[in-house]
Amino acid sequence: MQDIVRPINKCRVCGHNDWLDVVSFGSTPLAGNLLGKEDAPGGETLFPLDVVVCRKCWLMTLRHVIEPDVLFGHYRYVASDAGSIIQHMRQLVELCIGWIGLTDGDLVVEFGSNTGAHLQLFQQAGMRVLGVDPARNLADIANGRGVETIPAGFITEVGQEIASGHGPARLVYGRQCFAHIHDIHEVLNGVSALLAPDGLFFVEVPYLVELLANNQFDTIFHEHLSYFSLGSLCRLFESHGLRVVDVHTADVHGGSIVVFAAPTTAGYEVRPAVAEMLAEERSQGIAEEGTYRKFAERTERVRAQIRELVCGVVAEGKSVAGYGAPTKGSALLAACGLGHQEIRFCSDTTALKQGKILPGSRIPIWSPEQAGDHVPDYYLLLAWNYAPEIISKEKSFLENGGRFIVPIPEPRVISAESAL
Ligand code: TMP
Ligand code: ZN
Repeated sequence: MQDIVRPINKCRVCGHNDWLDVVSFGSTPLAGNLLGKEDAPGGETLFPLDVVVCRKCWLMTLRHVIEPDVLFGHYRYVASDAGSIIQHMRQLVELCIGWIGLTDGDLVVEFGSNTGAHLQLFQQAGMRVLGVDPARNLADIANGRGVETIPAGFITEVGQEIASGHGPARLVYGRQCFAHIHDIHEVLNGVSALLAPDGLFFVEVPYLVELLANNQFDTIFHEHLSYFSLGSLCRLFESHGLRVVDVHTADVHGGSIVVFAAPTTAGYEVRPAVAEMLAEERSQGIAEEGTYRKFAERTERVRAQIRELVCGVVAEGKSVAGYGAPTKGSALLAACGLGHQEIRFCSDTTALKQGKILPGSRIPIWSPEQAGDHVPDYYLLLAWNYAPEIISKEKSFLENGGRFIVPIPEPRVISAESAL
């Protein structure tokens, strides 16, 4: 156990060791580590889940780091094929191509490339692509669909080897994975080794300001080590000779930021959006301890309210199931003390998840078809980040008297009348 979990001894952005405790969820199982039927009788290993914020650079982070191979060696997170995500990926491809004028044959490298769905879009646009992902099971899927993928973590040597084997990359990017990596300096050294002098480095991360503003405590789980603001990313990148040149917001995963950086020597003009967002962060109190204390208070309140609402409905004799089985859903159920007693099953469209069991709460995951034979009175919308898409898709559930419980920012019930 000592080898696979350890407390951090310095901030991974600024190197200081001066922390404010934000919130603790006690010891919980790995929320994304879905169990097979054969694993179900054993007890899951519990890991501490404590959140702290650095008083020097305001990076919010977990206090403990788990050995990456335990988390990612066989990864069950498969990039969603929800319509809104596909549309978002298409927009990002256009944005990147336009920003630096990518042309046929330019090399695009993605780390944390999952099953290669995003790289395939660059491939279709004429670029050479290469994926890097530590999950061997996902790298196999990507290679199988013709997206060459190295099964490895993106460390300095990997960046160097790609540069010597394939030449410099005009675009290096990581979507929704940078916050999962403890040694981000290894990644940034790899980026520096690989990036062309006029190349662009792109990351998409969940946005700390949205997490705080919308009480997204369920997005805090062991895989999510860092919770970034633009300010902390600027500071981090600067220490590696990279300047943030543009930023966009993206309405995915509860609110994310898409950040473009380039070698300081490339001389790209810094777009006004960067200074605007930094100013907005300051006015939102990102650098004030009180902001984090208030978030912790709201988290405690909302956790209790969700539990009360679900238990109240169950006590009335109504049935409740989970809609979606995202990792954050598993984290939410653990944080609210909800289990199989209250939630009969979770319905999820992802084939890899169906037939598995959520760790801790021990709730079975069913396909939507199986769920269709046991329609509950209430669906707890664990995949709340797709709320508009799901609610419009499930019109007939609502019209037949079904209700959704949307857990955050504040728990609320949606019926056919209120969805109009
Ligand atoms: P994500 O937020 O990590 O992408 O996870 C969302 C989960 O919700 C994913 O496992 C797929 C599932 N889901 C459904 O089951 N039905 C849906 O309509 C949508 C949009 C997602
Ligand atoms: Zn710091």
